[in-house]
Amino acid sequence: MNIRPAIAEDIAAICACDHLAGEPARRRFIRDAVASGTADVAEREARVIGYAVLDYSFYGHGFIAMLYVHPAHRRAGVGAGLIRHVETRCKTAKLFTSTNERNRPMQALLVKLGYSPSGVINNLDEGDPEIVYFKRGEKLPFDRDTEEATARSSVPRKDPNR
Ligand SMILES: CC(C)(COP(=O)(O)OP(=O)(O)OC[C@H]1O[C@@H](n2cnc3c(N)ncnc32)[C@H](O)[C@@H]1OP(=O)(O)O)[C@@H](O)C(=O)NCCC(=O)NCCS
Repeated sequence: MNIRPAIAEDIAAICACDHLAGEPARRRFIRDAVASGTADVAEREARVIGYAVLDYSFYGHGFIAMLYVHPAHRRAGVGAGLIRHVETRCKTAKLFTSTNERNRPMQALLVKLGYSPSGVINNLDEGDPEIVYFKRGEKLPFDRDTEEATARSSVPRKDPNR
């Protein structure tokens, strides 16, 4: 398996492996992620079999906004490989992600890779709360300077007095 930054020519292949890409909002998300350089693809024999998006939209911290593996290639280490790859790219000391409470595969994957639960967001998907997970810098492959990375981010930090 090879993991590399996604390029515009990958968009059709990413959409073909993501069953939710039938929805215009998802296709827009994929196009925007590729255009902004935040998407990586996993490929096998030159075919895209999964993708991940790492951005800094979560209070300025690294956030895995998407992880998706083609159904035919699951349970073969692709998801774990993509997460390990984005961990090496993450510029902040904490890396967050989130998934629905009902998404047991993603939760099992995150726990296996050393992520801890970090809170629950209700009212996003009705009846299926969003569980936030995170991993600290010392568990990530490299140590990062959070302040510097946060200062570079255009996303405002949460007001500590709020
Ligand atoms: C969640 C997802 C990304 C996992 O990808 P994957 O390539 O199948 O995961 P891996 O093969 O790397 O799995 C690594 C470990 O995660 C856990 N895991 C993964 N899928 C699992 C499942 N269906 N049931 C239980 N544990 C699972 C296991 O511990 C597994 O290790 P093992 O196979 O040695 O037991 C994939 O199921 C997927 O794309 N789902 C749809 C999209 C999605 O839900 N994305 C996450 C929310 S954004």
